[in-house]
Amino acid sequence: TIQPVILAGGSGTRLWPLSREHFPKQLIGLLGESSLLESTLGRLDGLAETARVIPETLIVCGEDHRFLTAEQLRAQGRAGRIILEPVGRNTAPALTVAALAAMANQQDPVMVVMPADHAVADKDAFRKAVAHAAQYAQAGSIVALGIVPSRPETGYGYIKAGAPLGDKGGYTLDSFVEKPHKELAEQYLASGEYWWNSGIFVVRASVWLSAIRTHNPDMFEKVSQAYESGKDDGDFYRLDKTLFAASPSDSIDYAVMEKLGTQGPIGSVVVPLNAGWSDVGSWDAVWDVSDKDAEGNVGRGRVMFEGTHASFAHSDGRLIACVGLTDTIVVETPDAILVADKSQVQHVKAIVNRLKANG
Ligand code: GDD
Ligand code: MG
Repeated sequence: TIQPVILAGGSGTRLWPLSREHFPKQLIGLLGESSLLESTLGRLDGLAETARVIPETLIVCGEDHRFLTAEQLRAQGRAGRIILEPVGRNTAPALTVAALAAMANQQDPVMVVMPADHAVADKDAFRKAVAHAAQYAQAGSIVALGIVPSRPETGYGYIKAGAPLGDKGGYTLDSFVEKPHKELAEQYLASGEYWWNSGIFVVRASVWLSAIRTHNPDMFEKVSQAYESGKDDGDFYRLDKTLFAASPSDSIDYAVMEKLGTQGPIGSVVVPLNAGWSDVGSWDAVWDVSDKDAEGNVGRGRVMFEGTHASFAHSDGRLIACVGLTDTIVVETPDAILVADKSQVQHVKAIVNRLKANG
């Protein structure tokens, strides 16, 4: 049995001015009509041929985003259970909450843990990788889906694969290094021996719970109490605020994946994912995964291009005319306009931080 789990926290600061605290990137039409969350909700459709998929998706999200999240779930005509985090404690507590809910509902299902804000172009390839991963997970492993890296990205986790494991396309996960510094990332890329961690994990609920209990007992304790003292108000499951806030904050990657190793009782496995994956973290990635015109431009809304190449323009209302531009990003919203060099878009975060600091 497979339990879809969606982690829908985070705010996507590098996608300002479209992504905002109250309208984070997973909930807006970043790649067109449907939101990234809506695309994620449908990502396991069709997997049912190989395994039983529980129709009710578990979504863990911040309290502030509950209405938009519920509305998108409803608009898609999907069943879901939305669990609200009163405060953000990063992905490890969020997954622990999902695992507790999955155990309460079902007989220890295999959770397919998907961040709400990824794009996956090839759905078939995605489902095949998940189906394979689920078999390793069923047998008690924690499975990460790995991506062939294309640049020395320092914001990702790196996975070194070991020996092939059976005929399901997986490998033993020999080491996991979260967010290495630049020199190390360059070394990993050059070695050809490492994959990126996609952030999509496949693991049985009980296996995750025992991993977190082993590697961060305090987190396990606090989150379990927050879950047990939580309340269902009919629409949402609300964790106890004081208890959840008392949990340490950490990510799945640091709290567990880096610590698993090959010797412990829980084996970790990496299954390659070759499906046009992107975490759509910044404007160059949005341009990258979008359909382009003959000049390599992407226009959204009222946009005109003249003598312009490999650029991206998004208009919420006013006409944007781009003349003689190359590798440029323009994003228009009612109260802010971003104009950026496509190779510099990581620094959009600095603008957001300055805006925050100035209130
Ligand atoms: N519910 C919930 N609560 N979800 C959260 C929270 C939280 O507190 N924090 C983050 N998320 C969700 C978001 O949807 C986000 O996209 C995803 O979990 C991953 O969190 P990030 O904060 O974006 O992690 P990261 O980008 O630094 O690194 C992770 O993703 C990379 C790939 O995109 C790691 O797993 C890396 O190893 C990985 O390479
Ligand atoms: Mg991310």
